[in-house]
Amino acid sequence: MLWNKKIVIGITGSIAAYKAACLCRALIKKGAEVQVVITPAGKEFITPVTLSALTQKPVVSEFFTANDGTWHSHVDLGLWADAMLIAPATAASIGKMANGIADNILITTYLSMKAPVFIAPAMDLDMYAHPSTQQNLNKLQSFGNYIIEPATGFLASALEGKGRMEEPDKIVEILENYFAHSTDLARKKILITAGPTYEKIDPVRYIGNYSSGKMGFALAEAFATRGAEVVLIAGPVKMETIHPNIRRIDVESAKEMYQSAIEEFANVDTAILCAAVADYRPKNYSENKLKREDKGDFSLELTANPDIAATLGKLKKANQLLVGFALETDNEQTNALAKLQKKNLNFIVLNSLKDEGAGFQGDTNKISIIDAQGKTTAFEMKSKKAVAEDIVDFLRNRLS
Ligand code: C5P
Repeated sequence: MLWNKKIVIGITGSIAAYKAACLCRALIKKGAEVQVVITPAGKEFITPVTLSALTQKPVVSEFFTANDGTWHSHVDLGLWADAMLIAPATAASIGKMANGIADNILITTYLSMKAPVFIAPAMDLDMYAHPSTQQNLNKLQSFGNYIIEPATGFLASALEGKGRMEEPDKIVEILENYFAHSTDLARKKILITAGPTYEKIDPVRYIGNYSSGKMGFALAEAFATRGAEVVLIAGPVKMETIHPNIRRIDVESAKEMYQSAIEEFANVDTAILCAAVADYRPKNYSENKLKREDKGDFSLELTANPDIAATLGKLKKANQLLVGFALETDNEQTNALAKLQKKNLNFIVLNSLKDEGAGFQGDTNKISIIDAQGKTTAFEMKSKKAVAEDIVDFLRNRLS
């Protein structure tokens, strides 16, 4: 998995820097090409001579070479690498990365990096546990970086606790796993609908629902991470997309979502319809804000929205997969299977509002995947991110 992979190893000023030598060696033994970038503090812990001898490349540590003024391009490194690994990553460097404080070539390389970034923190237990470090790590994670959690054990401070940089063998395994997964869906094209739809009543009111979009966005991210090209049609949600493999189309109403989905469907291998689409919209949109009237009850006439899933089910070609979601409150299996059949889906992902921690808004979900013959595969309650991985794994074999 690491054969011919180009890896930038960033080394910062921690006692765990000595382990970076083993890391370089292990990666090179697996066939990777390694370029070391080191901070000034890192050089206090391990010499560039050791690292350049191991990697057979000059170590990058300054913006310029003092004697001849040669410029080291962090931008080129950002384009060259298949992955960047910062190991060990000190609290200071983590803080700089999280806040864009580009005062050494390691941080500028990080900011220029086009490839995935893995960060292996190493520090004293209290520094690691400090809210400042934790917030910075969360921030880096939200940028799409992968945090390799430190292990618990004996620390250089003679204390025991969580903060030891993960062992080189384990880090190599994590990178191998990443590369094993990162390309298995390359060239596959996936369409995902996510979030709610808003159906306008007047300029200030709409009919909507509680869908957060979290499940659909987690799916988009999971497919993109595995190399697929994702088109994400998102209803109105407060969610961000950062992965370069995701092309996002923002829509508001069911009709807009329908139009985009029809346009995109012909070009994809699979469509996964996660969105909670409004079944009805107000028959007439009022240009002016509706006024309260003193005539007692008020009724709003509704008209049916197009069913995106059912339409795509009719357009579906033999080599395309169509996957729906069903959020049910009762007779879950029967209702879900009926939907699958009615809409000509290949699979339906069922979640029940009866399961605490499943469905709208939350960060967890509990699903079953039902196929056209009614065969059900049930999964445990998990984070939506892990549920997305399960769905990708499940569909992966069917896709190829
Ligand atoms: O709303 P319902 O339970 O029928 O949704 C089942 C599936 O159909 C979901 O995958 C949902 O995204 C999709 N759907 C749709 N267009 C609609 C209604 C539902 O694509 N108008």
